[in-house]
Amino acid sequence: MKRIIVENYGGPEVLKLHDSDPPSPGPGELLVKLHASGINPVDTYRRSGSQGYTPDLPFCPGFEGAGEILAIGPPSAGDGPFSFSPGDRVYVGWSISGTYGQWCLADAAQVFPLPMGLGWAEGAALFVNYFTAYRALVIRGGALPGEKVLVHGASGGVGLAALQWCGFMGNPVWGTAGSETGMDLVSRWGAEDTADHRSPTAVAALADAAGGFDIILEMRSDLNLEADLDMLAPGGRVMVIGSRGETTITPRKTMGIEADIRGVVLFRSTAPENLAIHRALEKGVASRDIQPVVHSEYPLADAPRAHRELMEQPAAGKRILLCS
Ligand SMILES: NC(=O)c1ccc[n+]([C@@H]2O[C@H](COP(=O)([O-])OP(=O)(O)OC[C@H]3O[C@@H](n4cnc5c(N)ncnc54)[C@H](OP(=O)(O)O)[C@@H]3O)[C@@H](O)[C@H]2O)c1
Repeated sequence: MKRIIVENYGGPEVLKLHDSDPPSPGPGELLVKLHASGINPVDTYRRSGSQGYTPDLPFCPGFEGAGEILAIGPPSAGDGPFSFSPGDRVYVGWSISGTYGQWCLADAAQVFPLPMGLGWAEGAALFVNYFTAYRALVIRGGALPGEKVLVHGASGGVGLAALQWCGFMGNPVWGTAGSETGMDLVSRWGAEDTADHRSPTAVAALADAAGGFDIILEMRSDLNLEADLDMLAPGGRVMVIGSRGETTITPRKTMGIEADIRGVVLFRSTAPENLAIHRALEKGVASRDIQPVVHSEYPLADAPRAHRELMEQPAAGKRILLCS
């Protein structure tokens, strides 16, 4: 079987395909035959050893995938909430081994039944995007019914997931993108209105028309945090999901409206929270509010091209590696 391995930090060319036999799962572990793996910006940071990420070398990248149960380790106290059999269709979040490959080893709590009706690529797009967006909106953001949400960077994986969660929960939502294609996609997924985030005045006009936002999900806090504080309604929250550098803000802007700036990170999601998000996903998939938007699929060997395109092209949904 094949896996992508990074032996040294560097550009996309360090993503190399290797032959790799899967191990036998230990107690509380599952071996999954992966058909698809999700590609995320964090994979590029870990590959290059940047943005504070320096994973131990060598490693197999990837935090999510979808496939079938191949083997089940001996029972253990750490077994997850689901009882699986070989051949069951599942999706994986985190994993022990990495997911850019034809197999992955995971703790039982990292494996979830694939909701009915989703294909492999869609299943591989669930964990990082939908769990992060739900964590930002509900668990950390405390979204109340009817609260107005701006997704600042709505054309990518997390942003589209957030739009769909808002549709599922009935929250009015606005979104930004940096291309016409992206803005069309954001409109199609239920945004009341859209703006191009390359134009700060267009984004500010969106906030004026909306009467201020209760929650802003921010994908580029290093660029937008100061302006976000001007777009909040009283009691509003900016959820810092993505940031690629430093910024300066005027703290006084938080005072008059008693605004919060809240960090969000997926790895703080506990097993009970993950289970609750999975249950919500099942309902959202059944109601058709949740439908992962797959932008492109790449053969495993094209992982370097996928990383280049992820960082260089405007976003329009999720990029997926096909593993089988
Ligand atoms: N905190 C966490 O746990 C967590 C989890 C997942 C992801 N993230 C981070 O969240 C961010 C988004 O992730 P993703 O998976 O959605 O990535 P993605 O699919 O590559 O999408 C990136 C998004 O950022 C938007 N963007 C680009 N320039 C922007 C600007 N000036 N202002 C606002 N948005 C801008 C892009 O819009 P255009 O391409 O249309 O310009 C696109 O919507 C990344 O920084 C990622 O590392 C954090």
